[in-house]
Amino acid sequence: MGKIVTIKNNKGGVGKSTLSKNIAHGLSLLENRVALITSDAQNDSLILLGRWFEGGKGLKYHIQTTDDVRIKIRENLDYFPVETDIFGNNLKKKIKLVFENLKKEYDYIIVDCAPVFNVLNDVILEITDEIIVPIKLDKLSTAGITRLINKAEGKKISMVVPNLVRNTKLNKKYYEDLSTFFSGTGVFLSEPIPESVVEEALAEKGKTIFETGSKKAIPIQEIYGDIIGRVING
Ligand SMILES: Nc1ncnc2c1ncn2[C@@H]1O[C@H](COP(=O)(O)OP(=O)(O)OP(=O)(O)O)[C@@H](O)[C@H]1O
Ligand SMILES: [Mg+2]
Repeated sequence: MGKIVTIKNNKGGVGKSTLSKNIAHGLSLLENRVALITSDAQNDSLILLGRWFEGGKGLKYHIQTTDDVRIKIRENLDYFPVETDIFGNNLKKKIKLVFENLKKEYDYIIVDCAPVFNVLNDVILEITDEIIVPIKLDKLSTAGITRLINKAEGKKISMVVPNLVRNTKLNKKYYEDLSTFFSGTGVFLSEPIPESVVEEALAEKGKTIFETGSKKAIPIQEIYGDIIGRVING
């Protein structure tokens, strides 16, 4: 049975879709069967992988047989588009069934979770095995994560990943604060992922962090390698 890993933060623009594409692709390179799914009707993580969803047959029409909505994006990596107003009536039951079916077929189901409150997100948080939270190292994000950890969904948080990090005193201060906060909690605080022109260029080209020969990408690949190792072994 597959493991559901949700990438979630209620704040926008922190790197949820970026982490989703990189973690999903990294897992697939290790010969895992990976489904990337989103609760974001913009299907951003698909675009970041170099594809475009024009609309049409989203998951809502295919609760049991997902075959004709599957978009094969890389070897071992399939994407399932989600449209707005998905699933109609009986929402919760249908969503759970979709995930049950995906779990039978894939080793990992990575969910790029939109920063909105709706039934789909509620159910995902209920059934997910773990939650990875990308954050920026600033005052509001740090306050947000320390609040979130005390909520019900906070119990499933396995990792916090500082992203878009700059080499500033404040960024260092917030990283140290978070290290202290999370030490001994069982939540893994990853090394900070820098704000990088490499990631910017890869987003533009529709590629992942594992699809570049740039030397500048190596430290970032190592951080993702560590995160992916913990998804597999955690
Ligand atoms: N480490 C990084 N270095 C440079 N650019 C990055 C990095 N991480 C993300 N980005 C860029 O920052 C922007 C926001 O990232 P992303 O779309 O992944 O955030 P998000 O949390 O999914 O946003 P939303 O809340 O809108 O769904 C994107 O243009 C992405 O390419
Ligand atoms: Mg996004």
